[in-house]
Amino acid sequence: MHDLTTDQSVRILDSLPCYVTLMDRRLRVLWSNDAAHRDFGDPLGKTCYELFRVRGDKCSECLVEQSFQDGAIHNKEMTLVTAEGDRIDVLVYSSPVRGDNGEIASVVETAVNISSVKEMQKQLILLGQTVAGLAHGLKNIMMGLDGGIYVVNRGLQDKNQAEVREGWEMVLFNFDKISKIVKDILYCSKDREPNIQEVQPNSVIREVSDLFRETARGYGITLQLDLDEEVTHAEMDPDGLHSVITNLVANAIDACKMDLWKDEHLIEIRSRKGADGSVTIEVADNGTGIDRDTKDQIFEDFFSSKGDKGTGLGLMVTQKIMKEHGGSITFRSRPGQGTTFTAKFPHRET
Ligand SMILES: Nc1ncnc2c1ncn2[C@@H]1O[C@H](COP(=O)(O)OP(=O)(O)OP(=O)(O)O)[C@@H](O)[C@H]1O
Ligand SMILES: [Mg+2]
Repeated sequence: MHDLTTDQSVRILDSLPCYVTLMDRRLRVLWSNDAAHRDFGDPLGKTCYELFRVRGDKCSECLVEQSFQDGAIHNKEMTLVTAEGDRIDVLVYSSPVRGDNGEIASVVETAVNISSVKEMQKQLILLGQTVAGLAHGLKNIMMGLDGGIYVVNRGLQDKNQAEVREGWEMVLFNFDKISKIVKDILYCSKDREPNIQEVQPNSVIREVSDLFRETARGYGITLQLDLDEEVTHAEMDPDGLHSVITNLVANAIDACKMDLWKDEHLIEIRSRKGADGSVTIEVADNGTGIDRDTKDQIFEDFFSSKGDKGTGLGLMVTQKIMKEHGGSITFRSRPGQGTTFTAKFPHRET
């Protein structure tokens, strides 16, 4: 091992991927390495809290003062503001630097950027809250299932066919809801290759609208089709296509149900063939529309504005399916007027 020259020591400190600063007792910065210089500017004549723009005054728990007092190493997490105004989360260590007589001459601070770890921590907290919300939603459905089973049992005991049928309807309704949530979660939890085959998109649209027509009518919503007969067949994953249309129509129905301002509600499902062979499917509603704050969030994983009634899986699954097809999903919406979602499937050779 050979002794380092001062020059070499400084170069080593300058090449460290963290901020290194040296402070005196009055918290003035005596020296800072290249990284600190680059992100926080010239430290000359500044205190550490001025350089790092933590606040106008020194921190309530000042690590530098603590190290001067007890000669020990201290650490804490902090948020610093760079010369450009960006906020970064750092883990700061302060350690005393002793002079020739053993006295504490200065304190060196090293700050490591932990912004990505913090971001991950936030995501994990969000995920935890989401799972809790999902579990709550499932619990509600289970209660519905329980209620159905109770009515079936009572009907069986009373030998009352009508009661059995009523209970059985409740069981089926809640079973469907649970299966859909579980399928959606499984769909999102792994990468899968779409099962591409020749499908007739217009037939799938008719199938889905048949499924929803009665429910929609029950809420006073008219479900209408505007199909391009040029859309005869396309290479797609049939289940994926079914799921995309189902999710968009289910959302459109919710938006109409929640809209208390219009007397008549209309949902239109359209298909169009593009000159490039692409197939575009649109679902347009005259429901609530999407306000500006919500617009940025609807494609976020698990985002739902429907509280207990939504899992936020619908558009997550839809977006995943569209990506798997190399396609896109976009929307335009006017708050209070309605929304149109557009799913575009590119042409695919057979
Ligand atoms: N047609 C629409 N009109 C108004 N808002 C919509 C429409 N489609 C989606 N949204 C908004 O986007 C959010 C996310 O939709 P998504 O389908 O992912 O979840 P969800 O419908 O809330 O729950 P789930 O699909 O599990 O029932 C909705 O909660 C709603 O705020
Ligand atoms: Mg939905």
